Amino acid sequence: MDGSYYKQMIDLDRLPKHIAIIMDGNGRWAKSRKKSRTYGHKAGSKALEKVLNAADALGISHLTVYAFSTENWQRPKDEVDSLMNLLRNYLKKYLRDSDKNNIKIDILGDKTKLDNDIQEQIRELEIKTSGKSGLNLHIALNYGSRDEMIRAVRKMGQDILESKLNADSIDQDTISMYLDTKNIPDPDLLIRTSGEQRLSNFLLWQIAYSELYFCDKLWPDFDDNDLYKAIYEFQNRNRRFGLI
Ligand code: IPE
Ligand code: IPE
Ligand code: MG
Repeated sequence: MDGSYYKQMIDLDRLPKHIAIIMDGNGRWAKSRKKSRTYGHKAGSKALEKVLNAADALGISHLTVYAFSTENWQRPKDEVDSLMNLLRNYLKKYLRDSDKNNIKIDILGDKTKLDNDIQEQIRELEIKTSGKSGLNLHIALNYGSRDEMIRAVRKMGQDILESKLNADSIDQDTISMYLDTKNIPDPDLLIRTSGEQRLSNFLLWQIAYSELYFCDKLWPDFDDNDLYKAIYEFQNRNRRFGLI
């Protein structure tokens, strides 16, 4: 099938504003080629670059990608180290290329547990891209939805103690504003690759009414046309939000 088959069927007036992706399957992709898991993660970062540019060109406003979960620290040290080094390279490349594109980048998750040099790179990148008007790329790094909620509740408790917040006035919007995703609209569409049908602690509050799309392709094989196909299917769903 030609690479733009689904693209031409997308209604550009009804694009999802926010797409979230659980980029899963790098390890299995590498294993099937008898390569190291690191090789799979490298291929995965190339896939991200393609999908990112396709989403930006299409006019998607927000793309959130799950890059490293709070649970992923429990993987073998070698793999964690190589993921962190890939991340360093990725951030460096984005810092270097940020003049050439219009992508705005920020990080979701607890940054304080990342190495200092990575935190520094993130700060630089967030500042350097803050004025961009194109796609908003949110990278979930050391992110876990439950961890995000714990941090939010602690902060709310503190603000109540300091009389900055009134407990009786807490509503859905208040909670949203204490999450890492404050000011980001909830995802319309959540994509998970690799055939797994679970959320793995990703954006549990935010996806209350998102459309879920699972696809069997392993993340390094996911390409522009797969993104268009997911959007096309999203546009053919009937979102009711509890109404009739
Ligand atoms: C997703 O691919 C990337 C990360 C979790 C960092 P995996 O590494 O989970 O690949 P599989 O699921 O083992 O194939
Ligand atoms: C979710 O994938 C995390 C990322 C894609 C970064 P995992 O591979 O870690 O999730 P499980 O272990 O299959 O649930
Ligand atoms: Mg996985």
